[in-house]
Amino acid sequence: MQKILDLISEEMMRAFEAAGYDAQLGRVTLSNRPDLCEYQCNGAMAGAKKYHKAPLAIAQEVSEKLAGSEVLSEVSAVAPGFLNMKLKESFVRDYLRRMQTSKKLGLETPEKTKKIIIDYGGPNVAKPLHVGHLRSAIIGESIKRICRYAGHDAIGDIHMGDWGLQMGLIITELQKRQPDLVYFDSSYEGDYPLEAPFTISELEEIYPTASAKSKEDEAYKADAMEATYRLQSGVRGYRALWKHIMDVSVADLKKNYDNLDVEFDLWKGESDVHDIIPGMVEDMKKGGYAYESDGALVVDVKEETDTKEVPPCMILKSDGASLYNTTDLATIMDRMAHYHPDKMIYLTDKRQSLYFEQVFRCARKTGLVDADTELVHIGFGTMNGKDGKPFKTREGGVMRLENLIREINEEMIRKIQENAGQKGYEIDMEEAVDTAKIVGLAAIKYGDLSNQASKDYIFDMDRFTSFEGDTGPYILYTIVRIKSILNKYAEQGGILADALIREAVNGSEKSLMLEVAKFNATIEAAYEEIAPHRICAYIYDLANAFNHFYHETKILTEEDGQKKSGWIALLALAKEVLETCIDLLGFSAPDRM
Ligand code: ARG
Repeated sequence: MQKILDLISEEMMRAFEAAGYDAQLGRVTLSNRPDLCEYQCNGAMAGAKKYHKAPLAIAQEVSEKLAGSEVLSEVSAVAPGFLNMKLKESFVRDYLRRMQTSKKLGLETPEKTKKIIIDYGGPNVAKPLHVGHLRSAIIGESIKRICRYAGHDAIGDIHMGDWGLQMGLIITELQKRQPDLVYFDSSYEGDYPLEAPFTISELEEIYPTASAKSKEDEAYKADAMEATYRLQSGVRGYRALWKHIMDVSVADLKKNYDNLDVEFDLWKGESDVHDIIPGMVEDMKKGGYAYESDGALVVDVKEETDTKEVPPCMILKSDGASLYNTTDLATIMDRMAHYHPDKMIYLTDKRQSLYFEQVFRCARKTGLVDADTELVHIGFGTMNGKDGKPFKTREGGVMRLENLIREINEEMIRKIQENAGQKGYEIDMEEAVDTAKIVGLAAIKYGDLSNQASKDYIFDMDRFTSFEGDTGPYILYTIVRIKSILNKYAEQGGILADALIREAVNGSEKSLMLEVAKFNATIEAAYEEIAPHRICAYIYDLANAFNHFYHETKILTEEDGQKKSGWIALLALAKEVLETCIDLLGFSAPDRM
């Protein structure tokens, strides 16, 4: 279905042409002055020079051609040459009716389905998830859902950090604590136990302990590096231990991501490409791309047009060990071989921007990707506390994700009970807890996604959990309100399926209709700009438009049955739009709150 703005533009372009002017001048935009008009066109001003004519005269001629338009009810030429317009009620009604019966509410399917791999999450195995991992998960999940809804084949890959020094550290600490474990017996040839010799909580304690020791004790660190090397070179017992670490950690990660409603299609990690690194490095050498510099192997990636220094991309360290870069490059190679994506989107902190620039250039230069494979890094800003510094616990430590979610949920339970009290209904603890989970997640996700990703933002518990303002709970509250009206309509004997959208009878109804009509344009923009915040801004406007209409209109007590059912149909459509949008953001609405 065409976007409403395009339909209006086409109407205006026809009028320019009919008046003898270049049709391109007829592009229409949203009104800068919503108090005066709904849409506007500035083409007469742009055409004045070309046609040596006063802009107002052009605007007048064009407006005359629009008498009797099926799209526009009012077109006025105003000084110095604006064309201000209002849409015909019947045109808006028809547009919404078509939306209602169209697939995906009128969003067009792309000509070509793209295969898009989204690399997000990026947790480091055996280290607890902390708030730093939250943004990647939240933004990446939303981008994945938007790409899918837009009609593309999107694949989410968690890309775990599962192969580095942290593994060597854990193995070293385990060996110090339990030297008799069979995994450390190099003469052992039998099968290894199925059960891991540690639990997730032990693992979470082992890593920081080992990491702290390695910082103070050189010998300990050397042991850990040796253990990492032995693991990577395939020593059986070490590999078996690694497998235990992975199993225990992945089970825990799945639980955590489940709680966030974040789901990955691929649970791959850095370790998965270990075996293809030597071949890749060989090819880079043979192709004449990689050369030795101070003992290390590097590929130059600077370009003439660079305004900042872009250092070479390091492929191997001087001791021959691979790096973060190496695994990322090998992963690109692996993805091309297995999935041949048209596009790869990476989500990390924006401090990794230069790093990804180097990796992408290197991948292109060395032919790991096709000329038209798109590589995109979305670098996000930091989540700060109210003091403007990176978010910490009250005690000043790194906030663990689980604790953050717990704190939000407790606050939500309090607010939900308070609201039930004000509304005068009983809510038992079980329902409050379940609802708080849903609303709490919306509070966290909306609080994050409503900002442009690259910006830092302040995590403000009070604001994020508020039922009023530009917040997740406000959006849910609006949906719940619509649900309740629709339920009451059904209880009165109204049949939703029979309700038909009608021409708007007042200004607030029309404003609501115009907001609803922007759905397909919004989703298209969010997809093209890879920008979930566009959807947040849209549903905030839509929720405001609905609430404005709701406060001005006695819907359920309306005597005129046709009018009432028209409103009900509009509400049902608005609800569908809102629910689709929040699903794209990665959360859902409860039945009441
Ligand atoms: N594990 C990394 C970190 O915690 C993030 C991985 C991001 N993805 C990637 N393909 N490099 O910083």
